Amino acid sequence: MLAMKKILEKSQNPNLDSPCKDINNIPKCSVCTEPIGIAVTTCFGTRVYPRSCKCRRNALEAQRLKDKNMEKQIRLKQVISNSLMNDKFRKCTLRNWNHSVGNKNLYKVANQYINKFSNMKAENKGILIHGTPGNGKTYFSACIANALMERLVPVICVGAIGLTERIAQSKRTWGNEGIFTVLNSLENADLLVIDDLGTEEDTKWTRAMIYQIIEKRNVINLPLIVTTNMSLEELKERYDDRTYSRLLGMCSFINNTGKDIRKIQGKEKSQKFLQELLNS
Ligand SMILES: Nc1ncnc2c1ncn2[C@@H]1O[C@H](COP(=O)(O)OP(=O)(O)OP(=O)(O)O)[C@@H](O)[C@H]1O
Ligand SMILES: [Mg+2]
Ligand SMILES: [Zn+2]
Repeated sequence: MLAMKKILEKSQNPNLDSPCKDINNIPKCSVCTEPIGIAVTTCFGTRVYPRSCKCRRNALEAQRLKDKNMEKQIRLKQVISNSLMNDKFRKCTLRNWNHSVGNKNLYKVANQYINKFSNMKAENKGILIHGTPGNGKTYFSACIANALMERLVPVICVGAIGLTERIAQSKRTWGNEGIFTVLNSLENADLLVIDDLGTEEDTKWTRAMIYQIIEKRNVINLPLIVTTNMSLEELKERYDDRTYSRLLGMCSFINNTGKDIRKIQGKEKSQKFLQELLNS
């Protein structure tokens, strides 16, 4: 950084904006020896204008890249802190995917979805992944969310309970206006992940809110990923037809029939723990 600053300072010629008397003696950069002025002849005579030498051009380019990366870093921090994602979600990445427990096809789907996200977004293609507890639905969705956030795509990843509670809290403080504030804020995300749909309290009001959220994604034409333990019949029964039909239109449904990974990992953990106790 210091070196770059020095080059920028050294390669500047403060006197070049005054008319140059000796155009045959244009000063040179002391670092790269390229001239730091250029003679231009007009009807008013010949003048020497400032010109960037090679090392100054390089230093400016390096500075530009550095600023760009810094900006990226700041945006990434904002994207992550705006995602509502908790720390557990953040650790779920394709890099950490455990192939001995994770489903091969799910890995492929997540990978493709990430790589083709601009198409997915343009065509409003989302995913609804349903299945029994512990078989990697949240992990799968969080992998997509994290990879997109790494690419600076704004993502909101939130549990159905947290989301409906947030709306309720905002309503308590601001009345109906509060509901729209939260709903409108979801527009900022190119991808919205709703984890564990169906675990929120089952009332007419929460069902109406879920409809509003899904309808909002539909209207603004932006994708949605949903995870749920509910079967399609249960979903159809619980939410009204308008909700279910929108989900059908916006999401490809994946039935995850994998085993309970949580159970497998829990067993391994307790065996390891017992082993450690026995060996100590
Ligand atoms: N591909 C994977 N690689 C590594 N660990 C995984 C993978 N898939 C799932 N797990 C781990 O298995 C456990 C259960 O996964 P997850 O929470 O995603 O299941 P789920 O289907 O969302 O469960 P639920 O229906 O109860 O919400 C978690 O501890 C998770 O970290
Ligand atoms: Mg889950
Ligand atoms: Zn130079």
